[in-house]
Amino acid sequence: MPILNLSIDELLTTTRTVRKRLDLTRPVEPEVIRECLEIALQAPTASNSQSWHFVVVTDPQQREALATLYRKGADQYKALMTPVFEKRAASSEQEAEAIARVTNSGQYLIDHLHEVPVHVIPCIWGRTDHMPAVAQAGLWGSIMPAAWSFMLAARSRGLGTSLTSFHLFFEQEAAQVLGIPYEKVTQAALIPVAYTRGTDFKPGPRKPLESVLHWDRW
Ligand SMILES: Cc1cc2nc3c(=O)[nH]c(=O)nc-3n(C[C@H](O)[C@H](O)[C@H](O)COP(=O)(O)O)c2cc1C
Repeated sequence: MPILNLSIDELLTTTRTVRKRLDLTRPVEPEVIRECLEIALQAPTASNSQSWHFVVVTDPQQREALATLYRKGADQYKALMTPVFEKRAASSEQEAEAIARVTNSGQYLIDHLHEVPVHVIPCIWGRTDHMPAVAQAGLWGSIMPAAWSFMLAARSRGLGTSLTSFHLFFEQEAAQVLGIPYEKVTQAALIPVAYTRGTDFKPGPRKPLESVLHWDRW
């Protein structure tokens, strides 16, 4: 697969959450997904357990079923988070604009997820329910780096992705749809994947480093 001419730092700073610029009409070759997953397998895992699995969903009916759960999950998320967002939006014009942008883009994905040609669900053996923080860190920390590596590898091949979680409000139902053994395996995310319209992306707005950096002490 052709690789975009991006420096390592450009790749790391321009791998954005892509929603509206996903090309929903262009097919994604299975080989490019395999290539990105091969790269993801080089991510670290606790004790090198490699207890990950990746469910790649291209079947239209399966994607439709996941998109339905995602939509229902988005409704729950909105019900939970609207008061928080309203408060944040009231704090400054800049914050209000940022929230409006994400909400608008998020709604696009809610409306079109079933049309995104590939959904990738990174999974990990075990469940964190009622586990101490150290076990939770070990579990999530053994799948999210791989998910991010997959997203970086996808970006460098002209694909857009986003890390999403709304369907996890209905994780058990999604497990049923996909045949995942829910009692033993955690789904970490749902990553929609498609080629992007254009490949030029810019770094996102972020808080200044000085506001979050603690050196030697908090
Ligand atoms: C843990 C996590 C869960 C997320 N869940 C969703 C989601 O369910 N739906 C969605 O559209 N975006 C989701 N996002 C994407 C964030 O909204 C996105 O990272 C943020 O808007 C920053 O975008 P940027 O990196 O392009 O600047 C999630 C991101 C993370 C890290």
